[in-house]
Parts: sequence; structure tokens; C-alpha cells
Amino acid sequence: MKSIQNAIETFKNTFGQALKNASTEPLLEEVRITFLGRKGTLADLMDQLKQLSIEEKRIYGPQLNELKQWAENAFFSQKEALNNKSQHAELEKERHFDVTANKPDVLYGSLHPLTILKERIENIFLSMGYRIADGPEVDNDHYNFQALNIPEDHPARDMWDTFWLDIPGLLLRTHTSSVQARVLAESQPPLAVVVPGRTYRHEATDATHDFQFMQLEGIIVDKNISMGNLIATCHAFLQQLFKSETIQLRVRPSYFPFVEPGIEFDMSCPFCTDGCSVCKYSKWIEAGGAGLIHPNVLKSAGIDHHTYSGFAFGFGLTRLAMILYGINDIRLLHSGKIEFLEQFS
Ligand code: DAH
Repeated sequence: MKSIQNAIETFKNTFGQALKNASTEPLLEEVRITFLGRKGTLADLMDQLKQLSIEEKRIYGPQLNELKQWAENAFFSQKEALNNKSQHAELEKERHFDVTANKPDVLYGSLHPLTILKERIENIFLSMGYRIADGPEVDNDHYNFQALNIPEDHPARDMWDTFWLDIPGLLLRTHTSSVQARVLAESQPPLAVVVPGRTYRHEATDATHDFQFMQLEGIIVDKNISMGNLIATCHAFLQQLFKSETIQLRVRPSYFPFVEPGIEFDMSCPFCTDGCSVCKYSKWIEAGGAGLIHPNVLKSAGIDHHTYSGFAFGFGLTRLAMILYGINDIRLLHSGKIEFLEQFS
């Protein structure tokens, strides 16, 4: 009799103390198993009740039931308190989350060198008052050739090894000049537009040739546009791109069906004064083709070629990237090699 009374008191004390000490969920679970589990202390006490006389059962039965009730309530309130505490800790952690914490060895993404250069070039021309235009990479015979004064069977077509699609008349544009006629048709002079974009040639690939590369086309149409304007514009562009005022431009006569007269220009090597591997020891680097827009091109776009004239130029944007960043193999640009790309982050 006395012993069960004592056991009840002992249970209250030890269980109460154990609950207080159970500061984590696993510890609390241990307390539950020890005291309230199927083979725990409380279950023991209940077993002892069975051996008591009816009278004693009347006294201790309700007491033990009360004890059970109390113990379970105490357990659940401690469980809830722990829950609240851990939720609070989570919130605190979020509140103090340090977005600037330095995490070494993380691989960060970066812009592709061609994208970096394209944006730089766009900014230079935007600062000169040009607008940027775009056109389709899958284009047709009309825009890629005919509108540029290159009729069917014209021998000049041999200048561009073309990827023809299975659908007759469709091709992968061989140059960004294909956007000229679209721009001329949809806007009235005066206009100044540059078109950076991907172009395709049916060519074997080596360190300096790829079947896909980027070009930059530029056109301006206004009254009294001259060869002087063209040369000055290209000169200013290259000086800004290479951040060098000493860059010189050299002009050679050339032929492109969509310009008359046509030229090709070279720039003085920005890396040396008396020859280096970049300029192949010639001190000059081929930079692009250009000329005054052929009257036939203006005519086919419905622009009066007696009132207006214009110039057009085409730079190899990929080529400029290779020169500027010292890339010696064009194939690296589309290799997806992390060690290569990381250098531009
Ligand atoms: N489209 C020419 C090419 O891909 C480059 C070019 C030459 C563009 C002269 C022009 C130009 O606008 O006037 O080879």
C-alpha cells in the first residue's frame, strides 16, 4: 500500500524532472518510452494495481488514472513547447540568413565572350546614334541574295558557300547583309542601323574557320552620304573598340555586288608596331568589307537613289573577338569548355 503510494510520488518527481531535462525531440522520445511506453514505469504501476485488493483498487485506481492523465498532458505540453522552440529557431535562422556570406569553390556563370563583345559593340554604335536591328537566321534567296543585287546564276554567289534547306528557296543566311533589305523596306531615311548576328557558311572547319560565326552589319542612308563618312565611322568604331587612338585604317578597293564602289579595310595591328603573331608580322589586320550602297539595292527597297545615298559595312564579329581576346582557335568558342569560358567571368 505504502509502496504504491511512494511509487506514485516517485513517478511524479522523476518524470517531471526528466521532462524538464528533455531539451530536444529525441530526448523527449526517450522519456516517453521510459515512463509512458508499453513497458515503461507507468505501465508497471498499472500492473501492480491488478495485484491489489478490491478496496485498494478503489483508492489507487482513480489515483493512477489521474496520474496517467496528468503525465500524458505534461508530456504533450512539453512536446508542443519544443515544437514552438524549433520553429522559432528556424525563423530566426532565416531572419539572420547572410546573403553576402562568401562560399568558396562555387562555380559562377558568366556571359559568353561573343555576347560580351556584341554588347560592347552595340553600345559603341548606340552612342553614335545607331539603332540595333535583327533578322531571321533561316532566310530566303530574296533577302540573302536578290535584294542585294545578286540575281540567280550571278557568279558572285560563289563568294558565299551556302547551306540550302530542303525547302526550295530557303537557306541559312550567309551574311548579316540579308537584313539590309528588310531594314530599308520597313523604315524611311534618314536611318542608321547595326545588325549583329549569327551567319553560316558551308565550309570546312579549322582553327580560323567555322561553319557558323558572327558578323556585324551596319548601314546608314541619308542625303550626301560619302565614302569619307564610311571610313571615319569605321575608324572611330575600331578606335573605341580597341581603346586606342593610334589605330590606323587602310582601304583597298574590292568588289561586293551590293556596294559601288566597294572596299575592304585593314586596321593597323593594335598589339605591335613592327609585327607580331596576331598580325602575322604584316602590321595590318583585315577588318571588314564595305562600300556605298548600290543604287539597285536602294531601288529594290523603294528608296529614291537620286535623293539618298548610303554606306554599308560588314565586320566579322567572331574575328574581332578572336583578335581582341587573343583566341587562337575559333572552335573554342562553341566548345562549351568551362576552363575557356571561366576566363571571361
Ligand atoms: N556581306 C559581306 C560578307 O559577308 C561583308 C560586307 C561587305 C558587308 C561589304 C557589307 C559591305 O555591308 O558593304 O562577306
